[in-house]
Amino acid sequence: MALKLRPLSYSLGAEVCAIDVSRKMSEHDFGDVYRAFLEHGILLFRDQHITREQHIEFSRRFGELDKHDALPRDRHPDHPEILMVTNEPKLNGAPSDSKYTGRQWHSDMSFTLVPSSGSLLRCITAPPVGGDTMFANMYMAYDALSAGMKKLIAGLHGIHMSGTRKIANSTTGIPRAEEQKRINPPVAQPVVRMHPETGRKALYIGDKVKSFDGMTEEESRPLIEYLVQHATRPEFVYRHQWQANDILVWDNRCTMHCALGDFDETQLRHMERTTVLGTPSGYVVKAA
Ligand code: SIN
Repeated sequence: MALKLRPLSYSLGAEVCAIDVSRKMSEHDFGDVYRAFLEHGILLFRDQHITREQHIEFSRRFGELDKHDALPRDRHPDHPEILMVTNEPKLNGAPSDSKYTGRQWHSDMSFTLVPSSGSLLRCITAPPVGGDTMFANMYMAYDALSAGMKKLIAGLHGIHMSGTRKIANSTTGIPRAEEQKRINPPVAQPVVRMHPETGRKALYIGDKVKSFDGMTEEESRPLIEYLVQHATRPEFVYRHQWQANDILVWDNRCTMHCALGDFDETQLRHMERTTVLGTPSGYVVKAA
């Protein structure tokens, strides 16, 4: 099978055309898909009319799946490999726990000791307009830094938390946020990570980083904000406009992403994600 690829943007991403991910794929054919995933950072598969079981089965080709013990409220009750990202209210009418999932620049599961290698997000219902997701190429972001900045950040570790630095105080008392904090103590991760498969260096930063290990939040903030702003310059990003039955797989080791929330919240946006376990990284730090 020769893969038909269509670039999605200057910086990253490719659509894999004319493919049905629910069909059995030989090792050889999946090898082509996997190489394209490593090369482009994001692959889009459109018009995939698949079941949850098929979503899980296809995801397993990318590696062992996370059962989402770090995010227990958001996983599907019968399929722990599926993380719900939905604004559909609960059966009792209460707001969905996951309605604001991913509304900050991040790389999946960076706040755990096994950050994800890849995520496969399936769009079941997209709002009529908006509900887009932005992605940034963190290889490009790293490569574009000056030699001086590369030297400065080389030994730094960012402390990642399950919530976001930006609204850390306003989540106090919210049961989901409190539970996540309890289960997931802050974890320090290198600010520059070597991709285990491509050998390339990528920036590993985002809005879940509250400080650098050994520095105060006040000291850390300007540099964290600079690096996030730098990494999300227009030439490093791709903005995905979802259609129902899209599946997007991204490499969390060399990209970060942000769900924009640019839609009418009375409209349904229902997504389901599988998360591939990466290689162990980082260390737990004592909460300040
Ligand atoms: C996520 O961060 O995994 C969700 C992204 C999205 O809903 O667009």
